[in-house]
Amino acid sequence: MNLIKSILGSLLLMLFGGQFLIAQQNQTEIKPAQQWLDTNGKGINAHGGGVLFYEGVYYWYGEHKLDGKSEAQFADGGIHCYSSKDLTNWKNEGLVLSVDYKDEKSDLAYGCILERPKVVYNSKNKQFVAYFKLYLKGVGYDSNYVGVAVADKPNGPFTYHHKFRGGGTNKGSGDFSMFKDDNGSLYHLAVRKPDKAFVIGKMDTDYYFPEGDYQVCKGVKVHSEAPAIIKRKGVYHMLGSGSKGWNPNPARYHTTTNLLGTWTYHGNPCNGYNNIDKLGVEKTFGGQASYIIPVHGKEDAYIAMFDIWKPKKPITGRYIWLPIEFSDDKMSISWRDSWKLSTLND
Ligand code: DGJ
Repeated sequence: MNLIKSILGSLLLMLFGGQFLIAQQNQTEIKPAQQWLDTNGKGINAHGGGVLFYEGVYYWYGEHKLDGKSEAQFADGGIHCYSSKDLTNWKNEGLVLSVDYKDEKSDLAYGCILERPKVVYNSKNKQFVAYFKLYLKGVGYDSNYVGVAVADKPNGPFTYHHKFRGGGTNKGSGDFSMFKDDNGSLYHLAVRKPDKAFVIGKMDTDYYFPEGDYQVCKGVKVHSEAPAIIKRKGVYHMLGSGSKGWNPNPARYHTTTNLLGTWTYHGNPCNGYNNIDKLGVEKTFGGQASYIIPVHGKEDAYIAMFDIWKPKKPITGRYIWLPIEFSDDKMSISWRDSWKLSTLND
C-alpha cells in the first residue's frame, strides 16, 4: 500500500511539478513585436495600455479584446490587468472591469467602445482610479466621454463610477494621457473633439472631474494622438502619434518645461527597423504609443510602450516595448529584436 502511495505521489509530483515548471518558465528578454505570453503561457490581452507601479509591483492595464470579434464587430470587453515584479514576466490578474452584457442602458453596455485604460493612485482617498475612452453603444467615434472606474486594490475589481466630457466641448475628447505631477496634481491631456486641438485640464483632488476649463497646449501639433508623458529633470516629454485610425504612422515627440505653457516639437524620436514586420520609423515599427514606464530602482530608465493594432482580429494585436535613451536631454527610441531589463542603463 505504502509503495503504491509513494509511486502515485511521485507520479503526481512529476505531473504537477512538470506543469508548474512550464507555468513558471522564466522569460529573460522582452521581444518587441513578438507574441508575449503571460506566466500561464497565454497571450497577453492588454492593448492600448498603461502601467502603474504600486508597492513593488507593476500593474499593466489594457483593453481586453474579445476573441472572435473584429473592431467593427465590437471587440472591447473591458479592462484586463496583469502584474509583474520584473516587467518581463506577467501574471494574469484577470478582467478587472467588464462591459455589461445584460443592461443595454448601461454606459458600459456591450457594443460600447472602451479604449486606452490608464490607472492612477489617489493617495488622498486611497483609491485606484481607472480612466478610459468611452463611446456609448451605437454612437461610434464622433462623441466621446472619459469613463471613470474605481477600486481599492490595484488588481481590482474596478466599479464603474461616472463619465465626463473631456476637453470642454459637448463632443468630448479622444486619445488622452493622465499625468500626475510631483505635487500630486493630476492633468488630463487629450485631443479635443471636433477641432483636434491638443488640450489640458487639471483634475479635482478626488481625480474624478476636471476642476475648471481646459486650455490648448500651444505648440503641440494638431491631431496628435496616443500621448504618453514623463517628467525628467524638470522637463515634460510627450511621445505620441499622428492620426490614421488603426494604421501606424510616424511617432511625434514634444517637450515643455511648463505643462500649461508652450510645447516644442522635435519630430520622430524613433530609429532603426522592425525586422519582423519589415517596418521602419515612418510607421513607428508598426506601432502606436500608449504609455511610458519609469523603471523603479534604476536611474533615468524608461520604457516606451506601443501597440501593433490588428483591427480585423484585435486579440492578436502585439506590443512593442523599447528602452528610451536620452542624449542632450532629448529622447530617442531605437529598435531592438530583443533586450533585457537588467541591461537598461548599464
Ligand atoms: C487611434 C487611437 O489611438 C486608438 O485608440 C483607436 O481609437 C483608433 N484610432 C480607432 O481608429
